[in-house]
Amino acid sequence: MAIYEAILADHAKTRRMLRELSEVGEGEPERRLALFADLKSALTIHQHAEEAVFYERLKEMDDMRSHTLDAVNEHRVLEALLTELSEMATGNERWTAKLGALRELVEHHMEEEEGAFFEMARAFLDEALAARLGEEFRRKKCAGIEALTPLEWD
Ligand SMILES: [Fe+2]
Ligand SMILES: [Fe+2]
Repeated sequence: MAIYEAILADHAKTRRMLRELSEVGEGEPERRLALFADLKSALTIHQHAEEAVFYERLKEMDDMRSHTLDAVNEHRVLEALLTELSEMATGNERWTAKLGALRELVEHHMEEEEGAFFEMARAFLDEALAARLGEEFRRKKCAGIEALTPLEWD
């Protein structure tokens, strides 16, 4: 599986998790908490693996550098929102509103990644490398959240 398909599969799962979580009402704070914990860890692992394997390569390509930096910055914004949500009580309308904002931003980020970003990446990475990165991406994710650190921008 090439890196693109591996990322697309994660995105599909993230969309499902966000939809499911959005359907849980304020009257079920415990269920929100449990689903949110799963989303937070899955999304954090996804983003850090994406940075370590995919963005790390792309940032070396002159034409991709600024797009990659934008995407890394979006990851940091999403993580800040995840942290805010994890520190708030889940059974109220403020949490509902913030989750809505997170969902919009995550969906927007994934759409951009799947569209223009993938298109540019395909121009830089040959098929063999894309397949190797797909394998590396899966391995990184198996190593779990502690083994992954966000990309340091030099
Ligand atoms: Fe991303
Ligand atoms: Fe992604």
